[in-house]
Amino acid sequence: MNTNSSVSSYTEAPNNKKLGHIPGEKGWPVVGCLPRLRTDPFGLAKHHWDKYGPVSRINMGPQPGVMALGPDMAQTLLLDSERNFSTRMGYDYALRTFYGDNLLCLDFDEHKFQRRIMQTSFKTPAMRSYVDTMNPILDKGMEQWVFDKKFRFYDNIKELLLRMTCKVFYGVEAEDEGSAELAQAFIDILDAQMGIVRLDMPGTKFHVGKNGQRFLRKYITRLIPLRRAGDGTDMLSHMCKETKPDGSYFTDEEIVDHASFLLFAAHDTTTSTLTHMMYYLAIEPKWQERLRAEGERIGNDYLEYEDLAAVTELDACFQEAQRLHPSVSVMARRSIRDCELGGHHIPAHTLIFQYPIFTNRMEQYWSKPHSFDPERFFPERNEHKGHAFCHMPFGGGAHKCIGMHFGAMQAKLFTHQFLRKFEFSLPSGYQAGFTYLPMPKEKNGLPLVVKPR
Ligand code: HEM
Repeated sequence: MNTNSSVSSYTEAPNNKKLGHIPGEKGWPVVGCLPRLRTDPFGLAKHHWDKYGPVSRINMGPQPGVMALGPDMAQTLLLDSERNFSTRMGYDYALRTFYGDNLLCLDFDEHKFQRRIMQTSFKTPAMRSYVDTMNPILDKGMEQWVFDKKFRFYDNIKELLLRMTCKVFYGVEAEDEGSAELAQAFIDILDAQMGIVRLDMPGTKFHVGKNGQRFLRKYITRLIPLRRAGDGTDMLSHMCKETKPDGSYFTDEEIVDHASFLLFAAHDTTTSTLTHMMYYLAIEPKWQERLRAEGERIGNDYLEYEDLAAVTELDACFQEAQRLHPSVSVMARRSIRDCELGGHHIPAHTLIFQYPIFTNRMEQYWSKPHSFDPERFFPERNEHKGHAFCHMPFGGGAHKCIGMHFGAMQAKLFTHQFLRKFEFSLPSGYQAGFTYLPMPKEKNGLPLVVKPR
């Protein structure tokens, strides 16, 4: 854990509860606005925007905070030119308990310093090697899927991506000792992460999650000397060999914090994105055909790294699914001192939440904002360029997603193969619906009718 004394002044203070001077709504007793944020974040945000403007008060559970809406607020919070906002304290409750001092739980200079640990992991040679690893795993994985009436896209892609991620991130194969426990540990942590009861005692979900965390940490710690000594091309191998300016390696504890968080940051986000993409392709068969035609022009069963720039229609579908259903549905910060936001006084230690889904559907920037229309990203229309922060699926500023190209690449490799092998639609008469917390997804895990081509 970080013992840097410069951060203790703002990390040790409790969250501010005094926000009566900012207009807004508390929602229900105890749960606050959470039920509406789970089912209809756009509707709640639009209501706040129309009634109170870009900055208003809401309750996340019993905790009052500020809802900051629209691209101007996103720009102020994410660029944070005056260093008023702590990302660490925004995510402390949800993330730090399970992933220690990961990148989203570090601020300012310390954050910038630690981000170096991932610099080799996302350079072109590394990315090219991940493509070679991932394509056959995806191929084999989807060949094993059973397309019966119980088929749910979300469950299947989640399991396949988890298996693939363990290989690409840690160099762990499905048949390696402890790999099943590793995947289960990760699932247990996710289950425990958003829970309100936080007792590390047998019988609680929190305890199961904490056991998962203990397993994951031990597992990664054991791998560190092996990866440092070997010639692996997985991300952990790169992180173990990265050095600080004085030539020393990052400590085991630092590596474990970052490596365990990577799994969380990468896995559910890409699962959610692909589920929404497949939903829109299922209801818009003409886009399935367009993407297939684009894939035919590439001509290979697998997309290679060099092909990624050529699949522009696939990229537009990826962007459009992200716009309609951003995988990170809420971004959190906490003020570290008294400051001002949208004309309101924000006391120190106030939690601030952004809802990208609102910005992503604002009529000022997007034509027919609730419709799936990937062509809006084509150069002739460029709707996403209406404001530097009107489309930011990967965030912005110092904490901008370090895995953004990897996430997009994974989604494209999968979709290319899936479309070449199969056609798919929603079951007849099926009414899809969406939930947004803890991660956005189709409410029943997206049942699909899938036929081989
Ligand atoms: C479609 C998939 C993904 C989406 C939509 C996504 C979105 C985001 C967003 C919005 C943030 C910034 C959060 C904030 O500022 O509050 C972020 C940060 C981050 N993401 Fe992603 N992400 C995705 C995939 C990935 C992947 C595949 C990886 C790793 C391989 C990854 C690693 C990270 C890390 C480490 C951070 C923290 C960066 C920092 O604080 O410096 N993400 N992501």
